[in-house]
Amino acid sequence: MKAVKRFEHGSRVPGWDESADLDKDPKGIPDLATTPVPAELRAEIEAHMAKYPDRRSASLPALAAVQRYHGWCSPEAIDQAAAVMQLTPAYLAAVATFYDMFDTVPMGSHRVYVCTNISCSLNGGRALYERILDEADGDPDIDVRHFECLGACDIAPMASVDGVYVGPIETSEVPAMFEQIRAGKAVLPSKQLIKRKSVDPNAGVPGPPKAFGAPMGGVEGTDGPVAPIEQADDPPEGPEADED
Ligand code: FES
Repeated sequence: MKAVKRFEHGSRVPGWDESADLDKDPKGIPDLATTPVPAELRAEIEAHMAKYPDRRSASLPALAAVQRYHGWCSPEAIDQAAAVMQLTPAYLAAVATFYDMFDTVPMGSHRVYVCTNISCSLNGGRALYERILDEADGDPDIDVRHFECLGACDIAPMASVDGVYVGPIETSEVPAMFEQIRAGKAVLPSKQLIKRKSVDPNAGVPGPPKAFGAPMGGVEGTDGPVAPIEQADDPPEGPEADED
């Protein structure tokens, strides 16, 4: 297994042991009037804030939005979210450094998270992870990590590729998968969870894949998200359908 990356001081949090300059005032809440925030980013963060009575509850989706926009939770990105949310950058930085899926150092443009939890491991998840690591061959543009259960055990062994769930993946499919990642194409399209049929009669046709933290798409005429659930192509009808 790939070791969890640690910095020289032994922590996973960059710079946590840098001493504070006690002569400096703590960084306050950035002024939204003087902090340049892209209009669409501001609108998305404000939409998340509007869902909760306490704006701090929107910290995770706001950080996901700035990470998606900037590629990582850079100090500039965190300042922008802090300005919109009227929080201190320290508050948001504390949240960002707690969660694995937020990057507080620059990352490659692709994220491949391979599940190695129980269902996936029993179906070859660890071998798949090793094969994917080999194929990535240290490419700094592709961040490969193993993850605990990603909640898609029925397609084990699976991986999340730039937020798109794919599985079950055969190790023999890994080279094609990487060609698609590097070419910016859809990865193993026939094995994407989002392409599966739904038993939800209100579920619409899935839109383009959503990156981590992107707002869920609703179904026209409803305000609920689609729920990808498997169903047979032709659901049985009539009482005889219950007979085995
Ligand atoms: S064990 Fe892999 S998705 Fe649940």
